[in-house]
Amino acid sequence: MSSVIDILDLSTKDIEELISVACDIIANPDNYAEKCKRKKLATLFFEPSTRTRLSFEAAMYELGGNVIGFSAANNSSAAKGESVSDTVRTVSCYADIIAMRHPKEGAPMVASMATDIPIINAGDGGHNHPTQTLADLLTIYREKGRFNDLTVGLCGDLKFGRTVHSLINALSRYSGIKFVLISPDELRLPDYVMNNVLIKNEIPYEVTTDLLKSMPELDILYMTRVQRERFFNEQDYIRLKDSYILTPDKLETAKSDLCIMHPLPRVNEISVAVDKDPRACYFKQVLNGKYIRMALILKLLGVE
Ligand code: NCD
Repeated sequence: MSSVIDILDLSTKDIEELISVACDIIANPDNYAEKCKRKKLATLFFEPSTRTRLSFEAAMYELGGNVIGFSAANNSSAAKGESVSDTVRTVSCYADIIAMRHPKEGAPMVASMATDIPIINAGDGGHNHPTQTLADLLTIYREKGRFNDLTVGLCGDLKFGRTVHSLINALSRYSGIKFVLISPDELRLPDYVMNNVLIKNEIPYEVTTDLLKSMPELDILYMTRVQRERFFNEQDYIRLKDSYILTPDKLETAKSDLCIMHPLPRVNEISVAVDKDPRACYFKQVLNGKYIRMALILKLLGVE
């Protein structure tokens, strides 16, 4: 395998291996401290990021490698009109692997066709975010010990939320999964995900606007931010942004082993009062994101 553009570029066996390497890294970090010596990761971020970019960079440093890159399109020759393909061809002369985030859906795919080094999609527009999904899967594995037989509530901006699209694709390959899709009507899951993933694979799902009513049946509650940067109209964003705010009282009917997730950054979707609830897993997701990206870098660079 050369690039990871979509979570389905990884088989379930690949994912199992990545999780097992990540768990070994957690247990024995010193064994990995020099694995990527003399290797360089380039982080090409044409869109804002805190966790994804810094976790990739921390991951590479913890493997003993080095990092180059830029954190905004206006710091690169994209500002002069350079194409993604030319940028990537250029960076391939300096780096061994690239993690790329771009506002245009499909840009990392185009990048992967312009080079022979591995490209990792670190988020493309409102489309996909496979490495967030790997962080989510490692979190689910560590909290629940399984990917089967889970009722997963996805709440918030299911239309533009790329982490949701990748997570649905990933979980659709396990048995006994049911999705509860909780969003305002305007921010429902796009038809292409609904038709090509849920309906095609006959996966049970429920569409609702009601978070409270769904709460008791959920094993996982995945909250998401309303994706302001993808809206055409600020008025629509303002009207929809606070559709769901998770507060401690709303969790009264939830299972005692509910796993509350959020890819972060949060704006208002989860009140800070929920942070001390033992079921809150979103900062664990952040840390898991670093470990699983370490495992992914090792795999794509072919390091034993
Ligand atoms: C997400 C993203 O960029 O899609 N953040 C992340 O990578 N952890 C979610 C978001 O921005 O809302």
